[in-house]
Amino acid sequence: MNEFVIQTNNVTKRFKGRKVVNGVNLEIKKGEIYGFLGPNGAGKTTTIRMLLGLMKPTYGSIRIFNQDLKKNKMSILKKVGSLVESPSYYGHLTAKENLEALRKILNVPKTRISEVLEIVRLTNEANRPVKGFSLGMKQRLGIAASLLGNPELLILDEPTNGLDPSGIQEMRELIKSLPEKYGVTIIVSSHLLSEIDQMATQVGIISKGSLIFQDSIEVLRQRANPYIKMSTDDNEVAFKTLLTNGIQVQHQDGHLLLEQPDKRIVAQAVSTLVHERISVYRVEEQKMSLEEIFLELTKEEESL
Ligand SMILES: Nc1ncnc2c1ncn2[C@@H]1O[C@H](COP(=O)(O)OP(=O)(O)OP(=O)(O)O)[C@@H](O)[C@H]1O
Ligand SMILES: [Mg+2]
Repeated sequence: MNEFVIQTNNVTKRFKGRKVVNGVNLEIKKGEIYGFLGPNGAGKTTTIRMLLGLMKPTYGSIRIFNQDLKKNKMSILKKVGSLVESPSYYGHLTAKENLEALRKILNVPKTRISEVLEIVRLTNEANRPVKGFSLGMKQRLGIAASLLGNPELLILDEPTNGLDPSGIQEMRELIKSLPEKYGVTIIVSSHLLSEIDQMATQVGIISKGSLIFQDSIEVLRQRANPYIKMSTDDNEVAFKTLLTNGIQVQHQDGHLLLEQPDKRIVAQAVSTLVHERISVYRVEEQKMSLEEIFLELTKEEESL
């Protein structure tokens, strides 16, 4: 037995000769919330469809619960809940009736319906027709449906798409609470790193079909190159002074930027400026935001 709930080996998908998923090796451990991140068109939904057996890889293989998906599709998918793109419902039926239709297919006890409605906090709306639901309520009902069969693995494709900020926050809190309470492993896709940052433990970044990063958010954060931002009473003169003293500096948007945040270089820069009678107002360390790291990573990929 290995520790991975999902492990893909060189999964590739071509559409009419065009590779949209290219040699992807996902590794997702039990109990994790794995954020699957990538810009629009990167290949997230295509990968997720392959994980759910809705589409076959052109080549490569997928192991879920340590079994080959191709060989054991039915027994694997029984233990997987999913929400892919906007879920469809019978609008004239109530939330409860929609879940009841699904419950019969899954063959789980009736009590499970009220349990999942409670988890997604739709108990009070259980008897309302779904056509009157807001988008956020529909998404929560989608999560309820995905939980109905007591899955060990949840695969959620952009569950916060189209929600307003409070709906996004609510969905995030809901997703975050699930592994601890129910021992479920979750893969959740998004095109916003900030969103993944707030709920995931591990992150995989896909860009143009290739997985360009896969590790913890912490490791991703370490990619942020810190730099020092300085303000002086005469940036023009300060810029020239630093350069003539061999200190690498950039002049940008009314600030000076030292790209080497080494203590000695910062001290040397400040003393050089003070010696030249330039007043230094501010010296501060800046770090790239996670969103900037994400943009940088996906940009690098584009320029390859
Ligand atoms: N059935 C298909 N036939 C041909 N091309 C497809 C098909 N499905 C997806 N594609 C293409 O594959 C690429 C990846 O699409 P995919 O839907 O996987 O991206 P995504 O990362 O989910 O994007 P988004 O954030 O917009 O949902 C896109 O260029 C898309 O046009
Ligand atoms: Mg998609």
